[in-house]
This record gives sequence, C-alpha cells and structure tokens, in this order.
Amino acid sequence: MITFGIMTLNFESEASYIHEIASRSHSCGLECYHFLPSAINPLTKQVMGRHFDAKKQCWVDEEFPIPPLIYDRCFYGDDEHSKQCIPIVSWLKSREDITFLGFGLPNKLELYETLSKSRLSPYLPRSQVIKDCSDVIKALKSQRRIIIKPINGSQGFGIYYLKKNEKTIHVKTEKNKKIISRIFPNESKLFQWLQPLINYRPYLLQPYLELSNTSSQPFDIRILLQKDEQGLWLERGKGIRIGNTGGLLSNLSAGGSVIDFPSWSSTLSLATKEYIGNELHFITNNLPHILEREILPLFEIGIDIGMAKNGALWILDVNSKPGRKVILKTQPDLQETLFLAPLLYGNYLIHAENKERKSYNEKTLYH
Ligand SMILES: Nc1ncnc2c1ncn2[C@@H]1O[C@H](COP(=O)(O)OP(=O)(O)O)[C@@H](O)[C@H]1O
Ligand SMILES: [Mg+2]
Repeated sequence: MITFGIMTLNFESEASYIHEIASRSHSCGLECYHFLPSAINPLTKQVMGRHFDAKKQCWVDEEFPIPPLIYDRCFYGDDEHSKQCIPIVSWLKSREDITFLGFGLPNKLELYETLSKSRLSPYLPRSQVIKDCSDVIKALKSQRRIIIKPINGSQGFGIYYLKKNEKTIHVKTEKNKKIISRIFPNESKLFQWLQPLINYRPYLLQPYLELSNTSSQPFDIRILLQKDEQGLWLERGKGIRIGNTGGLLSNLSAGGSVIDFPSWSSTLSLATKEYIGNELHFITNNLPHILEREILPLFEIGIDIGMAKNGALWILDVNSKPGRKVILKTQPDLQETLFLAPLLYGNYLIHAENKERKSYNEKTLYH
C-alpha cells in the first residue's frame, strides 16, 4: 500500500479532521501516517511519528520513512518551532521523490501582484506595501478610510481599520473577540503606535470596503474549491460568515457565526441573486486555474469574497490551507466527501500518468 502522510506542526492541530481522514485511508488503499516536519531525522531520513492502525482504528507511535505522498496542514506562527519547520518543509517540497497534494500560496502581496495581472483584477481591492508611516498618511488623505493587514497574516490577526477625521485619526481593531477603538490626536501620536507595528511584521494597506449587512455586521462569502478524484476543480460548497455588530472581521476565529448560502441569498432580489451567482461563477471558474498557471499546483483553496453595499464583489483572501467549518456547519451532508477528498486526490496524483509537478518555489510557504 502507498503511504499517505499528513503533516502538521503539532498533534493537536486539526486532530479530529486528521483522524477522520486516517480512518478512511485503508478503504482508499492508502496507509496513513501523521508527523511533524521537525521529527524527521536528517541523517536516516526516517520520521518519528504515528501510524494509523486501521484494524484497531487508533494511532500507534512508530518510526517510518518519509511518506512519498504528503498532505501539508502546517500553520506557521512567529514561534521558534515554526521557524525550525519552515526550511524542513521547503526541503521536502524540493524533493522529486515526494508528491505534495498542494504546494501552498505566496503571501497576500505577491498574490495580489499575480492576480492583478489577470482577468480577476477588477475583483481585487487595490493593495500596496506599507514602506513607512507616510504611506499610511498619504492613503488616509486620499481615501479617508483604510484597512491595514499583515502581508503574512491569517485568521483576522493584526488587522486594523483607520479613519481620518478633521484633526484626529480613529483606529479600530478586533482582538480576542472584542472591538477595540482608539483615537490619536495627531499624526505623530499615530506614528508612535504604527512604527513598531510595521517594524515587527510587514503590512499592506487597502481601501476600507463597506462589507457589512444592514445590521452593521461585517460578512463575507466563503467558498471551498477542491480537486476531485480525477484532478478536476469543483466547488464543494459555500456559506456566509458573519462577524460582530460594529466589528471589522468575519473570520470565525474572531467570533464570527455562519449561515447557509441559500438562506442568505433568499433575502436578495431576483436580479441581485442572478448577478451574484454569475459573478461567483466567474471567480470560481477562473481563480484556481490562474493560481496554478502562475504559481504552483494546488489541491484546495478557500476564497473569502466580500460584498459591498453597492453589490460589488471583492476577492479578499485566498487560503491554500482552508478550514472546513463553514461548509460542515451549513452542509453537514458533505462531511464524508470532505474527509475522503484528500485521499481520493492523493490516489489520483500517485496513479496519474502525467504527473507533471513543478519544482518547489520558496515563495509558497506561508499559506
Ligand atoms: N479591505 C477591507 N475592507 C473591509 N473589510 C476587510 C477588508 N479586508 C479584510 N476585511 C475583513 O477582514 C477579514 C479578514 O481579512 P483577510 O484579508 O481575509 O485576512 P486573514 O488572512 O487574516 O483572514 C475579512 O474576512 C473581512 O471581514
Ligand atoms: Mg481571510
């Protein structure tokens, strides 16, 4: 049997998702292993991890060779262990004898630069790197309201809304599910706060888009696309994420809730519904192919799409290691399909005759 390795940064991360995949691995003709990149012995190329015992339906600690097929579910942070794992994963991705289900995506800025040259450019909020505080002031003067976010961010972390009033500057963020507001009396006070922030991690700025519903809750459309057992892209499902009233973020990690797509779209007029349907179709039909053509092969993506008050749709974010919560909550009948999908696509990759996989590109680590 071919071995299928699931790679995470710790054994607690997505434990139940990984268990569900593992428990179905034998039915797909795969032997499932779970390991951390840091547990690879560079001399012997053996890994100390765990093997799923299909008879007993439980994990057993074991040492094994690096699996030839890997599903990468590593979520990196600023910690030492992440820093240790990044070059190891980079080395794994460069090995010709290892097949990754997907290679990941570059950071938000590089993704913006790539997509802004494509037919999807009208759907992208204009984004620019913040080189210094004066970039923020310039943007506030011309746009009044902006969003700043970490170039390598995820899960709504470190995102701020800035608004220029006549004299003061209003900054708002969400932290630990709470909305925090601050007024800076002048630019120099703003700089004192902003400079350390942008020194610590690179940031980009975007126009602030009014992506809230009539109850002042920010919301977005979350779409999960995956490849099927024949390597063809399809939409698995979509749902609506809704954030806190008066808040900024619709991420579930920031305390958002979920409603199903048909309930949400039933509140729209027939014409709007049709228009949104066509727009979403255009985005989901084009995005995965553009990403694979311009960057590297992928197995799945989660797309965050915002809808402005005027009905315009905006591609806010593309995640190559998407969560499944929105889909599982709104379309629980998809559970089995979602747990089998990585195994079936893994099988396809191993058996596909024309397995043309581009070599690793170090830009793809973060997402
Ligand atoms: N330009 C923007 N204008 C208004 N809200 C935004 C903007 N960009 C992001 N948001 C809100 O913040 C959330 C998180 O932003 P996103 O770019 O997806 O970053 P992350 O990678 O942290 O999820 C979005 O889902 C949306 O609710
Ligand atoms: Mg997001």
